[in-house]
Order: sequence, then C-alpha cells, then structure tokens
Amino acid sequence: MAKPVTRFVCQSCGAVTLKWAGKCETCGEWNTVEEETIAARPGPAGKAATGKRVSFVGLSGTAEPPPRAPTGIDELDRVLGGGLVPSSVVLVGGDPGIGKSTLLLQAAAQLARTGKRVLYVSGEESIEQVRLRARRLGVSDTSIELAAAVNVRDIAATLEQSKDAALVVIDSIQTMWLDSIESAPGTVAQVRACSFELIRLAKTSAFSLVLVGHVTKDGSLAGPRVLEHMVDAVLYFEGDRGHQFRILRAVKNRFGATDEIGVFEMTERGLAEVPNPSALFLAERRGNIAGSAVFAGLEGTRPVLVEVQALLAPTPSGSPRRSVIGWDGGRLGMLLAVLETRAGVRMNQTDVYLNIAGGLRVNEPAADLAIAAAIASAAFDKPTSPGMVYFGEVGLSGEVRQVAQAEARLKEAAKLGFDSAALPRRLAHGNRKLAAPEGLRLEEIGHITDLVARFAPESGSAT
Ligand code: TYD
Ligand code: MG
Repeated sequence: MAKPVTRFVCQSCGAVTLKWAGKCETCGEWNTVEEETIAARPGPAGKAATGKRVSFVGLSGTAEPPPRAPTGIDELDRVLGGGLVPSSVVLVGGDPGIGKSTLLLQAAAQLARTGKRVLYVSGEESIEQVRLRARRLGVSDTSIELAAAVNVRDIAATLEQSKDAALVVIDSIQTMWLDSIESAPGTVAQVRACSFELIRLAKTSAFSLVLVGHVTKDGSLAGPRVLEHMVDAVLYFEGDRGHQFRILRAVKNRFGATDEIGVFEMTERGLAEVPNPSALFLAERRGNIAGSAVFAGLEGTRPVLVEVQALLAPTPSGSPRRSVIGWDGGRLGMLLAVLETRAGVRMNQTDVYLNIAGGLRVNEPAADLAIAAAIASAAFDKPTSPGMVYFGEVGLSGEVRQVAQAEARLKEAAKLGFDSAALPRRLAHGNRKLAAPEGLRLEEIGHITDLVARFAPESGSAT
C-alpha cells in the first residue's frame, strides 16, 4: 500500500509547499499554511497504474450552441449569456449580506414556476430561515425542494438519485464539508474537495450547478480562489450596502461575454430588476454644482450614464491626497498629471476626491474626459452644462482619443433628455459620419486644453 502524501497548502492563495512555514512564500500572508494529507491510490496489484489511450479528433465538426434554460430574470440571464447551461457550474461570489441567497432563491423560484425541478441546499441557514425569506419574496408556493445540509457525501448521494433536476443551488460552498478531509469547512482543502465532488456530479448529470461563495475584504473569494479555475462561469454580486442597488458582473464565462452587467435594486420584497440603470444612477443628481459631470459609459452591450463627482480642497500640509471611489486610482494620477502638464491646471497643493455616484465601478478609459471635466469644473468653480454628457479617452500628450460605440452612448444620452455631448474629434473615423440622434448637439474636443478652456475664466466662453 502506498504511503499517504503530506503536503502544505496556503489557505489564502493555494500555493503548495513541502515544508510548513509561518509565512506563505507566494502571497506573503502569515499563518495561512496548513497541512493536508492525500491518500495515494495504488495501481492494480502493486503495479504502476497505466492509463487508457486518449483519442484525438479534428477541429471541424458540428458544435451545437449549448441549450439554455432562461431563469426568467432578464438581468441574470443577460450576465449568464442567455440562461443556465445544463451540466455547467456557476460560482456566484459576493460579500456576506449583499443578496446572493435572495437572488438565487428568486431565480430558483422562477425556474420552478416553469415546471422544472429545482433543489436548494442551504448550509448556512436553517429551513425556517429560508422559508421566512421565501415568504418575504412571495415564492413559498413554488415547488423548490429545500434541504439544510453540509455533508457533501450525503448531498452527492442524493443528487445521484436526482439527475432529472434542472438546477441545484449550494449555498454556500464554504459551509460544505467532506469527512475524508481533515481540515475545517471553508479551508482550501475542503472547498476544493467539495467543489470537485459536486462539479464532477454536475458534469455527468444534466443539471446546472450554482455554488455560492463568500468574498474577503480584498475582493478575492475567501479560500477558494482555486475554485475559479474549476467552474464554467464566475459571477460577482457587488454593491455598496449603503445603496439600494446591486450589480451582478461576470468575470469569467465559458458560455458568454464577460463584460455584461445585471442591475438590481434591493427592495422590501427582494431584488427588483432595473431595466434602465441610467435613470437610477442619475436620479439624485443636482444640476449646477461645480465638480459634477455625466459620463456616457458602456457596460457590456448596454450604455449606462453615470455622474462623476470631483471635490478639490487645499492640502493642509505635506503631500496632497488623492482618494477615489469607483475608478482606478492610478488612472486618476495620470489624468491629474496630464491636466497639470498639458493644460496648466495646478494641483500639487490640492487634495482630490473623486467619486462615481451611486456606487458603480467604472473600468473604461472612455471615462477620462468626463472625469477631467469634473476636475476642471471643480478647479475653476464653474458647473458643467447640465444637459451635457462626456466621453473620450485622454492620452499622455493630452489628446482626446476615440472610444468604441459612440452611437450607442449618444442614443442613451438623447433618450434620457440630454441635449449635448462632448466627445473626441472624429479624426480616426475619417469621413464616416457619426449617426447622432436628432436634436443632440455634438461638441468635439481634440485636446485636453480645449476642455479646460471651457471652464477657465480667461477664455470667457460658455460650456
Ligand atoms: P442575503 O440574500 O441573505 O445575502 P447573502 O446571501 O449574500 O449573504 O441578503 C441579505 C440582505 O438583504 C439582508 O440585509 C436583508 C436584505 N433583504 C432585503 O432588503 N429585502 C428582502 O426582500 C430580502 C430577502 C433581503
Ligand atoms: Mg446567504
């Protein structure tokens, strides 16, 4: 009989070492390295195990698009790429209390209403607690089969008998536990082994498996970062707990695009879909305040308008502060440097606070122009014109560059009642005419100095 193999695994990053250490060499975390024992499997009759031949095929052949079961929640289906794919595994991550269980119970209920079999395994909450939530969501009458269980051996045995299910939800993977592994639930070893067992089952059955996972403060899935590689799709449910709305974002999707978002609003009766996020993000905007500009952004295929706010304050002493919520801090530093060097806006004794209103996280470089406008507006204490949206990327020499999907952005702006747009000059597009919606005035900005001139007093021109 072969000896069991002992190895040491960092519970934070999953790095494997042969010796125990107080500090993980790979990620630098302290007290995260733990011992794991793996029983080695001997080959038949003591011989080294030999594998079977693997057959190779050509690249051409008929590949059908995967069949999908829409959950009936459009915002979720969009992020999934059209619906749940049978035999696929989706990991839904997010901070505790953000609404993962609520979302999944609602999706499960919708699916159950279409006559499909849905199993919901809760490892965190008791049957009573889940029932209470179901009552609150008004889904108590659906045919969801609910179980409170954490033992993966039992769950797997049950699922073997339930191969006709359409959806299985495991809430959450961090509470699951396999008795063959010695570590506690939630450790890398447990999470990995439990997921492996459940994923293996999903792959040999027709149900879609949804695993719920909690996220740590730094944004990584607690422990199971290793898990991201094992599943077909990773969705993050994010949002500010102080705000009503939540954003579901795909960070990995083998069956769809990864830049789509779904927007929800947490209400008294669960999560409501927000089909028009722009209206929501702009709802609390006050016009005529210096330091605010509207960015015509794009999230996946959907245009989204958001308000960008900048606040400047004199630095009390020492080096100036830069504080950013919802955007990249490094990019703000670059933009400030461009504003200072190319357009002469002095900011070396000024603290800069930047906020994407409403809690949305913007990743597009196209936001540069709107952010520069908000900063310039704050610097010269002159409001941007209330009916104007901004988009364009700013380069290091101060030039304003083209961005994708200008037409979609303009259409959304017109739809929400904006009357003008500041956008890059159409150099790159040559003589192709931009199809702007009727009544929307386009103001081309070729260089950052043109933008600053709209706010600086000496230019005297209106914005
Ligand atoms: P929950 O789904 O339990 O979060 P997670 O599973 O991600 O930990 O959501 C918990 C929060 O949502 C809780 O603070 C209460 C709030 N909530 C509502 O505001 N309305 C509702 O209808 C429900 C069910 C929850
Ligand atoms: Mg939960």
